[in-house]
Amino acid sequence: MEGTEKKSLFSAVQPSGAVTIGNYIGAIRNFVKLQEEYSCIYAVADLHAITVKQEPAALRRNTLGLMALFIACGIDPEKCVLFVQSHVPAHAELAWVLNTVAYPGELSRMTQFKDKSAKHAENVNMGLMDYPVLMAADILLYQAALVPVGADQKQHLELTRDLAIRFNNRYGDTFTVPDGYIPKGSGARIMSLADPSRKMSKSDENPNGFVTMDDDRDTVIRKFKRAVTDSDTEVRFDPEHKPGVSNLLTVYCAFTGKGTEEAEREFAGRGYGDFKLAVGETVADALAPVQAEKARLLADKAYLSDVIAKGADRAFRIARKTLSKVYRKVGFYRGE
Ligand code: TRP
Repeated sequence: MEGTEKKSLFSAVQPSGAVTIGNYIGAIRNFVKLQEEYSCIYAVADLHAITVKQEPAALRRNTLGLMALFIACGIDPEKCVLFVQSHVPAHAELAWVLNTVAYPGELSRMTQFKDKSAKHAENVNMGLMDYPVLMAADILLYQAALVPVGADQKQHLELTRDLAIRFNNRYGDTFTVPDGYIPKGSGARIMSLADPSRKMSKSDENPNGFVTMDDDRDTVIRKFKRAVTDSDTEVRFDPEHKPGVSNLLTVYCAFTGKGTEEAEREFAGRGYGDFKLAVGETVADALAPVQAEKARLLADKAYLSDVIAKGADRAFRIARKTLSKVYRKVGFYRGE
């Protein structure tokens, strides 16, 4: 029926190590909700991952681990197209063509490129600079209308739009110009447990600052017990004056589905020790079934390989249509 076709939505996560509960709350959990409403395409972005140094064995392990985690979190490979980016050569191929409409000036101005260049000064490579063009290729190949992105990727999405418009202007209508998608009620930005003024990150040199999806129960509880709060005693949501406590409340609410006021009432008159323990236990309880399912999937190599192969095949079928169109538009000889 006309008008009932679902809009397509693309997103990806890099298999570059641990996935934190911040990544889960901010991204993966929303991917699960979105699969009902949209035609979703999700990738494990291994081509992006090698723009910084990766240990090859770890990259392989993390790629499989992220696939298993996606599924364990509830992404259904029957409902979505779930695949590994490097299995679909069209990503690298389209990135090459898009490079010819991307300017070095705009790429070198990207905030993430500048940050990563400073952080990996010994390995500032062309891939790091070209990263947003590859990301544009990811999105444009699937003619995605929507791309859920966090604040740190907004600039890259803007560039994707610019490249799409520029290409369309030069060669005629080819790409859907995508919009960013901010899921309802997903304002939750999870901060470091060690320094609530900074975003939770797996690259934090203090491992107590972040909780990963693989942390065992004792580790999770220990990290929450050590979380930095303040010298007050009241459990109240006030990010400006009580960033640590507010962050813990955000985590608690994200995993319980409760509202902040309800959570505040629940902890009224109870000390921080009690509160932190409750948050830690809640998170550990929520992670346990996901970890068990991930382990079960990783033990079922035949199933995972099948999902990965089918995902690549489905992605390839969509991607090659766009790539053929692009090759035709730019004038590559395709036979008479
Ligand atoms: N760069 C994104 C990140 O690190 C991952 C990514 C790769 C992506 N390709 C994408 C996200 C396309 C959205 C759309 O978070």
